[in-house]
Amino acid sequence: MNSHLLVAIDGPAGAGKSTVAKRVARRLEIPYVDTGSMYRTIAWLALKEGLTADQEAEISELALSTPMTLVEGGVKVHDVVLKDELRTSEISNFASTIAAMPRVREALVRKQQEIAQLQSVVMDGRDIGTHVLPQAHVKVFLTASIEERARRRFGELQGKNQSPDYEKLLQEIKQRDENDRNRTFSPLRQAKDAILIDSTDQTIEEMVEMILELCCTKMGGAE
Ligand code: CDP
Ligand code: CDP
Repeated sequence: MNSHLLVAIDGPAGAGKSTVAKRVARRLEIPYVDTGSMYRTIAWLALKEGLTADQEAEISELALSTPMTLVEGGVKVHDVVLKDELRTSEISNFASTIAAMPRVREALVRKQQEIAQLQSVVMDGRDIGTHVLPQAHVKVFLTASIEERARRRFGELQGKNQSPDYEKLLQEIKQRDENDRNRTFSPLRQAKDAILIDSTDQTIEEMVEMILELCCTKMGGAE
């Protein structure tokens, strides 16, 4: 085993990945890497430049040439920290579209692998256990019913003083799941050696404890 611990958490939108991954990372005192925010950043930059889904070459070039640094709660690009602007429905949907582009994925996967090369990380996304870190010591596939996932997003947006439309959110999540599961290149899939956790009826703390226990076992008892 490598001397550093790699934890991969994958699953569909709203399953609780980032909430759980962040807490596990905090408890282990290692960095949390939110790969979704990297796809969201490229989507944001592409839309800002007026690019559309048919301009794959230009969008891939952005993914290749844009230096980005993950910071607490966001991404730093060209000296600007992007946070809430990455979390809109428009960005979620466009991120899912550009995430199907092979050269975009190649560029971002390389950055993700570089981050995990020299340090322990908890990384969440769609293809971490299958493609980005197939050597991860702990792999979790987190899921929940689609209705529960849409309810969570609904609650999250209400908490930000927005007035979300539940049916619209449900349809958007369905569409994003479909894109993510059916794309040719690195689709969302449970790795063969990943532990499946259905978060529908589990509290965040229960899941965190379960994953910490898996880490503990893998590291021979040392957290
Ligand atoms: O990262 P992902 O899209 O998988 O989900 P998230 O952003 O971590 O979670 C979406 C929302 O669901 C957050 O507001 C969480 O607090 C909430 N959540 C929950 O209420 N119960 C859980 N068991 C997991 C997440
Ligand atoms: O928070 P949520 O689960 O809704 O989304 P996210 O993790 O921020 O990811 C946004 C989009 O980026 C997803 O719908 C995927 O299409 C894409 N993504 C991906 O393809 N591979 C990853 N490792 C992470 C995100």
